[in-house]
Amino acid sequence: AELKLWGGRFTGATDPLMNLYNASLPYDQKMYKSDIFGTKVYTAGLQKIGLLTEDELAKIHEGLAVIEKEWEEGKFIEKDGDEDIHTANERRLGEIIGRDISGKVHTGRSRNDQVATDMRLHVRSTLNELSTFLATLIDTILKRAEQEIEVLMPGYTHLQKAQPIRWAHWLSMYATYFTEDYKRLQQIIARLNVSPLGAGALAGHPYGIDREYLAAELGFDGVIGNSLTAVSDRDFVVETLFWSTLFMNHISRFSEDLIIYSSGEFGFIKLADAYSTGSSLMPQKKNPDSLELLRGKSGRVFGSLSGFLMSIKSIPSTYNKDMQEDKEPLFDALTTVEHSILIATGVISTLSINAIKMRDALTMDMLATDLADYLVRKGVPFRETHHISGSCVKLAEDLKLSGIDQLTLEQFKGIDERFNEDVFETFDFETSVERRTATGGTAKSAVLKQLENLKTQLK
Ligand code: ARG
Repeated sequence: AELKLWGGRFTGATDPLMNLYNASLPYDQKMYKSDIFGTKVYTAGLQKIGLLTEDELAKIHEGLAVIEKEWEEGKFIEKDGDEDIHTANERRLGEIIGRDISGKVHTGRSRNDQVATDMRLHVRSTLNELSTFLATLIDTILKRAEQEIEVLMPGYTHLQKAQPIRWAHWLSMYATYFTEDYKRLQQIIARLNVSPLGAGALAGHPYGIDREYLAAELGFDGVIGNSLTAVSDRDFVVETLFWSTLFMNHISRFSEDLIIYSSGEFGFIKLADAYSTGSSLMPQKKNPDSLELLRGKSGRVFGSLSGFLMSIKSIPSTYNKDMQEDKEPLFDALTTVEHSILIATGVISTLSINAIKMRDALTMDMLATDLADYLVRKGVPFRETHHISGSCVKLAEDLKLSGIDQLTLEQFKGIDERFNEDVFETFDFETSVERRTATGGTAKSAVLKQLENLKTQLK
């Protein structure tokens, strides 16, 4: 029991399986940098209020630098009794600078405010990294959209052909989703960037530590105003997991579209070899595994969110060990999201499109709305023109024509007198697309504006 930092009041040994069950070092060692940073600043705060001499502080900072290097180089040796990253680092500091000094480091601090601080620092830096990767994904999509602005394809609702759109418009849709994700991420980073340090175990600091100083040194925008909240609040973990889930949902729909477009029946896109795999049995196969994994992993991230919410839903206030269960789902989700962003960026920057197949998939009935609009322009109410256009579609179908454009002027006039020779100008996909110039539409000018607008939103 004496190996443990908290061993003083214990006489019996911990069950070996309990030790394993209790230990978080296997996964929280990821936070070694944040933990060392937090201790560096905390001890500077202690020195400021006279609880450490300048000399002691210097020794502590030297020792911490050694420990950081050990972790970096994979040379940190874990020992029995190292429960988590906090206890491991403190134990090691004692070995390097002597327990007389290292034993003062934790004065007024608890692992409760320590772990809450470490987590916020760690999540902040990870989310900032994700932000950069996400901006690259968006940028990649925008570049592709600019380059392939001329390409038309079917737009779908209910996965049924609906109206012609630009391929760049489809790309811009996902760039819009991902840009919202990007902005939401900045909001989460701003909200989590407040300091729990100096809250102690729960009740506050008995030596009047300058919490504002600690916060500023750690790059936080302020302090959490209630010490009980400071140690117990994991809303930033929930928000990060929710953000990850929502983002993966967007990634999943993006992937699903591309899986459909890459099927033999559609043939709109082809994945690069780098992001496809083959079949062990069928020699001809090239499967979109990258996209299927992106789609599948969205479930795993949602599992992390729902699992963690379950873990904390009815724990009593302040710190409870249940909260240690925040780490594995959070870290797993963040790693999954990071890899997913990188894979999605790779997929979208290397796939090739088949513009001819996209265009050939456009059918004349997709211009039935434009046919209704033709009469609207002649003053007929839309409800009426909708019905008339429907009759044209039906007649063309009954006559087994290849499309509504094959009806003769007489047949059009037979349905409605107000059709004229110029009706045939309707049957052009470019014309249909180029009519949609209103903000957000699929006309070239409108899509280019979307792309420009999205660019300005990434700082
Ligand atoms: N490893 C713990 C965690 O991740 C650190 C906090 C432990 N605090 C305590 N009072 N047992 O939550």
